[in-house]
Amino acid sequence: MTADELIGLEIELLLEGVFQVYGYDFRGYAEASLRRRLAQWLSGSGYATLSLAQSDLLRDRTLFDTLLRGITVNVSEMFRDPGFFTAIREQVVPYLKTYPFVKIWHAGCATGEEAYSMAILLQEEGLKGRFRIYATDINEEVIHKAEEGIYPLLNMQHFTRNYQHSGGTGSFSDYYTARYNHAILSPSLREHIVFAAHNLAVDTDFGEMNLILCRNVMIYFKQALKERVFALFDTSLIPGGFLCLGTKENLEFRHISDRYEALTPRMQIYRKRYAKK
Ligand SMILES: C[S@@+](CC[C@H](N)C(=O)[O-])C[C@H]1O[C@@H](n2cnc3c(N)ncnc32)[C@H](O)[C@@H]1O
Repeated sequence: MTADELIGLEIELLLEGVFQVYGYDFRGYAEASLRRRLAQWLSGSGYATLSLAQSDLLRDRTLFDTLLRGITVNVSEMFRDPGFFTAIREQVVPYLKTYPFVKIWHAGCATGEEAYSMAILLQEEGLKGRFRIYATDINEEVIHKAEEGIYPLLNMQHFTRNYQHSGGTGSFSDYYTARYNHAILSPSLREHIVFAAHNLAVDTDFGEMNLILCRNVMIYFKQALKERVFALFDTSLIPGGFLCLGTKENLEFRHISDRYEALTPRMQIYRKRYAKK
């Protein structure tokens, strides 16, 4: 067995153990990025190999939490890919306005920026009081951060530019209060959002959603896990609902493809058809 194959085996054994002990299932994650992230964790851990770390990882929850942090990539920004939010505003919101109440699921919301951006957009479009956002992530630590809605003030310049490029109709500074080096988002935005832990690899669907967003999450998944997640979204979406996959993912050649039509192919926004083909 080569050194490379040995590392592959160590990863496989570790992931199996992690699943058995903690219920987190990373066995369906794409190998290349997982390898990179585990190697990075290992280099800062003090262990020489994953096999040597494994015994402690399976017994020490605090140590495992550091691994969890290392495996999940939690970077996000407000109005990330501004053109995507323009497409939501111009092409999806007109449909959403026809419903008395709208339910939205942000799957893999990281520290919450995407969900808060959506709350701002929907308020500006006159949907205040008529929507609820469910924002979920596998990582409970980032969910707590998301709940706080506090971001480094330094980021606000970039977020403001994104907001403006996305077609924001107000003044972005109205949505936060600057305190020392932080920006505290307006609590009124938080009122529309329920943050919760949810694992796309093992947990069940969310019912009756009008809109589901899952951007920059499935790039880390292997094909079989992607199919599981697509099936989960399909069950969770009402007919006529929208599925947003971000620029790095699409619905081509998926089991659910024929039940969806592309609304904006470039932004990977799909609409679920009313009748099955
Ligand atoms: C790069 S962030 C994307 C955040 C946001 N959607 C965006 O595009 O800015 C990816 C998020 O997916 C989450 N994630 C990874 N695996 C997951 C899983 N199995 N279930 C739910 N969330 C997961 C990570 O914890 C991370 O916060």
